[in-house]
Amino acid sequence: MTQPTFKIRLQGIHKSFGPKHVLTGLDLDIAEGESLVILGGSGSGKSVLLKHIIGLLQPDEGTVEVDGVDLSTLGQRQLIEFRRRFGMSFQEGALFDSMTVWQNIAFPLQRARPRIATADISARVEQCLESVGLQGVDDKVPAELSGGMRRRVGFARAIALQPQILLFDEPTTGLDPVMTAVIDEVINNLRRRLGSTTITITHDLTSAFRIADRIAMLHRGQILAVAPPDEFRASDDPRLQQFLEGRAEGPLTDDPPPQTTQVPDP
Ligand SMILES: Nc1ncnc2c1ncn2[C@@H]1O[C@H](COP(=O)(O)OP(=O)(O)OP(=O)(O)O)[C@@H](O)[C@H]1O
Ligand SMILES: [Mg+2]
Repeated sequence: MTQPTFKIRLQGIHKSFGPKHVLTGLDLDIAEGESLVILGGSGSGKSVLLKHIIGLLQPDEGTVEVDGVDLSTLGQRQLIEFRRRFGMSFQEGALFDSMTVWQNIAFPLQRARPRIATADISARVEQCLESVGLQGVDDKVPAELSGGMRRRVGFARAIALQPQILLFDEPTTGLDPVMTAVIDEVINNLRRRLGSTTITITHDLTSAFRIADRIAMLHRGQILAVAPPDEFRASDDPRLQQFLEGRAEGPLTDDPPPQTTQVPDP
């Protein structure tokens, strides 16, 4: 039997900030071309997890592998090169405030392909903006846009290079249901057309079920469960049920927090 190929593999990841043990021995494999959705409570470490995958944060313990390469073996310059495989839209939007929408989206294209003609860039920028339902905002700066529009520009910038791996940190938070469906459709299309591997953090369960091949739930610094949507929904794990039903009371909120020094058995 051939070994399954993993695009991304996280093994035994521990990460603390001061006394706060955020990731506590996390394991997660993501297959090539897969769409994985990560759910979890606020502050559970979802954004921290994503930043490990792109090498913006390094684990205290454990390994992150992408395409079979252990990120800890990469030097600073190799890491910069490595990041070109990714498109990422950050939770905070992270647009360049002093640049127009056009310049923001063109930026990764110009950096990756210095010789690309302006007309080609413009065509791509238009295409990306159109795919997120934005038109006629090219010359605006971020401060002139609503929060939801900024989020969509960030998303358009992430997909501009049609990267192999896309990381989306709450791409639809604050968007209305119609725009959320539009973004979900873009994510599904990217996968279908380009075979991109996508990891999306969301609090929106409708979205999660619409885009996921598998859903993973992060809790207390580890992956509590990872399963295809139907299995996930049908799980009788009371912790998943509490999350899916959005109940304040239940095992998720009753568990005593782990000791900050605790290292789970392998
Ligand atoms: N650079 C940092 N320095 C110190 N603490 C950090 C840093 N980054 C994250 N943390 C802490 O790690 C914990 C997890 O943060 P993270 O942003 O990953 O949560 P999250 O699951 O993405 O939450 P949300 O759903 O609210 O976005 C938080 O307690 C946060 O304060
Ligand atoms: Mg976050």
